[in-house]
Amino acid sequence: MKKNVLALVLGSAMTVSMGMSAFAESTTEAATEAAPGVMKAAEGATIEEIPTDFTTIQEGKLLVATSPDFAPYEFYSIDDNGDPQLAGFDISLAQRIADDLGLELQVVPMDFDGILMELQNGNVDLGISGFSPEPERAEIFDFSDLYYYGGQSFVIRAADKDKYTSYDDFKGLPVGAQTGSIQYTLAEENTPDANITGLAKVTDIITELESGKLEGAFIETAVAESYIQNYPDLMIAWDVPYDSMGSAVALQKGSNLLPAVNAVINNCLVDGSMDKYVAEANELASGKVYEGQLDENGEMMTEASTE
Ligand code: ARG
Repeated sequence: MKKNVLALVLGSAMTVSMGMSAFAESTTEAATEAAPGVMKAAEGATIEEIPTDFTTIQEGKLLVATSPDFAPYEFYSIDDNGDPQLAGFDISLAQRIADDLGLELQVVPMDFDGILMELQNGNVDLGISGFSPEPERAEIFDFSDLYYYGGQSFVIRAADKDKYTSYDDFKGLPVGAQTGSIQYTLAEENTPDANITGLAKVTDIITELESGKLEGAFIETAVAESYIQNYPDLMIAWDVPYDSMGSAVALQKGSNLLPAVNAVINNCLVDGSMDKYVAEANELASGKVYEGQLDENGEMMTEASTE
């Protein structure tokens, strides 16, 4: 089975406004900081011409690494034939960048903690996976302008609402975060006495929270809200303050793709496309999704979850 990203993006021009408002409503309660959302275009920004003086690893292609365990950024949506299709606003952004640069998009799914290494080794052109451009990474990689603000949250089972009221309650208890993510660092900073467990996929963190293997987890707010729609027995306990705001595209240091990527991001913010990508992603994420792994033939290894 072929993963047809283009067909997905074209095929998903659907009831965008509904997904948007449902999402906005669900964010209001927990958020004391800014609610997740699309970045504002720079003051006075207008549509920019895309620079053409860039090179890619494979001529005519744009290789983009992503970790599709992170709805609504990137995940597998189940299409009408029951097949998993890569979806999410990062995938739409990747498609837009490829289109505007006149390149053929090839998305390379992998675990999050492998993406930056693949980028450094020159195996992919871009990492588009909800990357927070934090200072330590920015020493080694270039990051585009921000396109989305996701926020940070601490997630527990809703049944434990009264049991857990502060980080102190998690001494010696299993607390999860995705390996290689800023959430793992947030776990080390906020719950140093917990038994911090790094998992390769956020979807595994969700499952382990549900099953009681984890007692709490650090997850991006937009992502937590998305999975809580499908797992209502989980809840955001509180927001987690974090300085490096928002998500950016990761590139090799000095990549000549950066000006073109920034021009596309600017244009998506100016022309409202990013709002549309996010609304579509939220809509798809609240439908049938697949949260497992695909085998080497792109087939699902377990049953798809239902709505
Ligand atoms: N924003 C966080 C970071 O940059 C987490 C991103 C995780 N992305 C993913 N597709 N799982 O570390």
